[in-house]
Amino acid sequence: MDQYALYYDLLYANRDVRREADFIESIIRKFSHVKVKKILDVGCGTGMHSIELGKRGYNVIGIDISEEMVKKAREKARGMENVSFLVGDAANTVFKDKFDAAIAMYGVASYFIEDEALMKFLNSIRQNIVEGGLFIFDTWNIFGVNDKRVYYEMPSPEFRKSGNMLAIKESTWTIDLMNQLADVDISWSIVDLSRGGVDVFSHRIRLRLFTPREIKHIMRDCGFSLCEIYPDYNLVPFSEDSPEMVIVARAD
Ligand SMILES: C[S@@+](CC[C@H](N)C(=O)[O-])C[C@H]1O[C@@H](n2cnc3c(N)ncnc32)[C@H](O)[C@@H]1O
Repeated sequence: MDQYALYYDLLYANRDVRREADFIESIIRKFSHVKVKKILDVGCGTGMHSIELGKRGYNVIGIDISEEMVKKAREKARGMENVSFLVGDAANTVFKDKFDAAIAMYGVASYFIEDEALMKFLNSIRQNIVEGGLFIFDTWNIFGVNDKRVYYEMPSPEFRKSGNMLAIKESTWTIDLMNQLADVDISWSIVDLSRGGVDVFSHRIRLRLFTPREIKHIMRDCGFSLCEIYPDYNLVPFSEDSPEMVIVARAD
């Protein structure tokens, strides 16, 4: 198993998945035009949100391109009849039955750098949602990233701990404003505090940075209306200096 999938839950141990699920439910109450029973978790990773939403009574299918992520998700959801997982490319998968809502949490949309790939991804999600259903996802706001450029370009360690395991993250961004891209070099040191062993690995990801207005147009071109942009998974107003954008769009 690759180290990213192996340690994924530790690497993101700082997240408050229950709060994020509370946010999703509030957004559904606020903006959905349909009653939500069935949710598609796009790029579900190890199934954090699928499982939390499943516990709240929704029927959830998580799809991820990584077999290893899906394997972990299935292990974690063992015994849950209303939650299932599928290995597949979300940009190429159209389900027979549509969903009432879809989510793509924690940077999934940022994987689609090229316009064609992004449109294919969004069009496929649109096909999987009923009219009036929501698509909730996060991505990067170029203005906010540029505003905090010094912080992003200076490596500074972050720590995440779960049980006896400690993860130390160091990331450095190289920002290309003209092309609206950022190359992020991330290195992780995983320390087993009980045994003292250290596992070190690194990866590079390329992210696409958007303007809020661009998002509105792209969503419209793919059959969605933009409902709202939030700065994170809290119901607070978005401002241009927020590096992240949580986008709520409704299928037309
Ligand atoms: C940063 S993880 C986020 C996982 C999860 N949504 C969460 O919040 O923990 C991004 C995930 O997107 C998946 N992914 C990337 N491209 C994909 C694609 N074309 N189809 C489905 N999943 C994809 C990756 O395998 C990875 O598990």
